[in-house]
Amino acid sequence: MYYPDELVEEVRLKNDIIDVISGYVRLQKKGSSHFGLCPFHNEKSPSFSVSGGKQMYYCFGCGAGGNVFTFVMEYENYTFPEAIKMLADRAKVDLPEIEYSEEVKKKESKRNKLLEVNKEAAKYFYYQLRSQRGNLGYRYLAERQLTDETMKKFGLGFASVSSGDLVQYLRSKGYADGLIQEAGLASFDEKYGLHDKFWNRVMFPIQDINHRVVGFGGRVMGDAKPKYLNSPETMIFDKSRNLYGLNFARTSRQNNVILCEGYMDVIAMHQAGFTQAVASLGTAFTAGQANLLRRYTQEVFLAYDGDAAGTGAALRAISILKEVELSGKVINLEPYKDPDDFIKNLGTDAFTERMEEAENSFFFELRIMEKDYNLKDPESKTKFHREIARKLCGFREEVERENYIEAVADKYGIGFDNLRKLVVAYAAQTGLVSPVVRPKSGIAEKKNTPEENIKKAQRLLITWITEEPKVFPQIIKYITPQDFTEELYQKVADKLFEEMKEGKLNPAYIVSMFTDEEDQREVASLFNTKLEELETKQEREKALHDILYTVKKNSYEYYSARLGADVNSLSQVIAGKKALEELNKTHISLD
Ligand code: UTP
Ligand code: MN
Repeated sequence: MYYPDELVEEVRLKNDIIDVISGYVRLQKKGSSHFGLCPFHNEKSPSFSVSGGKQMYYCFGCGAGGNVFTFVMEYENYTFPEAIKMLADRAKVDLPEIEYSEEVKKKESKRNKLLEVNKEAAKYFYYQLRSQRGNLGYRYLAERQLTDETMKKFGLGFASVSSGDLVQYLRSKGYADGLIQEAGLASFDEKYGLHDKFWNRVMFPIQDINHRVVGFGGRVMGDAKPKYLNSPETMIFDKSRNLYGLNFARTSRQNNVILCEGYMDVIAMHQAGFTQAVASLGTAFTAGQANLLRRYTQEVFLAYDGDAAGTGAALRAISILKEVELSGKVINLEPYKDPDDFIKNLGTDAFTERMEEAENSFFFELRIMEKDYNLKDPESKTKFHREIARKLCGFREEVERENYIEAVADKYGIGFDNLRKLVVAYAAQTGLVSPVVRPKSGIAEKKNTPEENIKKAQRLLITWITEEPKVFPQIIKYITPQDFTEELYQKVADKLFEEMKEGKLNPAYIVSMFTDEEDQREVASLFNTKLEELETKQEREKALHDILYTVKKNSYEYYSARLGADVNSLSQVIAGKKALEELNKTHISLD
């Protein structure tokens, strides 16, 4: 942590969350909360709530949530130090200068220098493109139907024929040779000395999410090879954690992202109005990039080339997306090669249609796989079906797996029962998933697993305490923080119970105790689980009783299972048994 807790708290208290968020989102008071349209996903009716009492926000649609710091961090894409600085300024709180170590200072200064020299180079290329010498480049881009506005938006530029121009220019601006080289803008050899890396190419500056230039891609204007040259990775340019176009896409307020293969695709898509398009950076799509996307969207449309290489890349991207639980859909661009080509020929509306028709990524995978088999030959066909069954085992969640089995059986004309048997056999054989009992209806209902129900009960209890603190004395008769068996929940309960015992209630402060963004989001969800709207007092009393019972029973079982391994379990088990007996004969009263 950079600043003392008290100071962080002071800044937070002086920035009322309703005031701050009202600066970004139109809020309307409804009951004890304010509601508005969520700025973090696209929606038509408001599910974004801000509570003045809790000093927190939460979106019931997309699960974004937190306190005033989290909001500013998410909205402005600030780091914590940047967010606290902004809010301190807003509330006129003085922040002390942070003392960085020598090493950190040096690193920071190097980063800044690299950013500076990249920015200077981008300016130079940009200017060249618009000058007489860059006419060739300008004509090339114009021929590819990019408008002036688009060229400007993406900061496109030109590196001229004579190699040495940029180095000379940067030297004249006072940048050291070492830095120019380290930025990947020039290379050194005995014969030519320091010379430009990019020459006679149109230049695509690559920006990070804060619009800072971190590298370049340069394209030849004809068919020469290599088609693109890219900056090497540097201290400020990590290709696996950046995406071309993300600086614009992240504020596009669409509920999906379109993942393309190339720079030109992204640019053409944006020009056509699809400002949610991004591409990887001359390298394959990575898990780091998938994680990055997950912050902004739940659904990714793949717009990869239709050729063999593009299909292979799409298959790999699909499995990476799946790892981070993003759902993927594949856009069919036929008969065109890539999105750029498609848009040029058929335009925006046609592309929107293709998005609507996009194929579920699992079916896409099967369709590609199918090509390796001869379905007229029974043996090959059987192999294909086995391969399908094997892939179906990849769905860990029973409901999802059942639904896919049904859909696949339907699509490929395989008997549902037969396919299901194959899947079960495979699963048992490989230990991937345990065989499941077939539900009578054929399709499993969407039902929560017991673990999910227990987590939900723990969340409900925490939310209930913060919404209705007067129930706390009733609750602590039966429940201790140890009963929250989820690690994160327990940390939150620890703090919450401690504060409640002192007569304080401060959920937004508790969020601040967690530094990891994902943790903060989850903690926020703990305080904002939707309580069912129960009409009568009796119903509410019954509901609270059930929640207490569920939480306690789970805790009793949890610690019972650990009796041998953990010395503290015994007291939990004894207390748990007693509490359960008592709960069994007690009526919870909400008077
Ligand atoms: P493509 O060959 O599909 O290029 O490569 P493109 O983006 O559609 O460009 P145009 O339309 O031919 O001008 C896709 C991406 O692969 C990387 C680049 O990031 C490119 O945008 N690539 C390709 C390279 O890094 N080097 C290459 O030589 C080729
Ligand atoms: Mn292309």
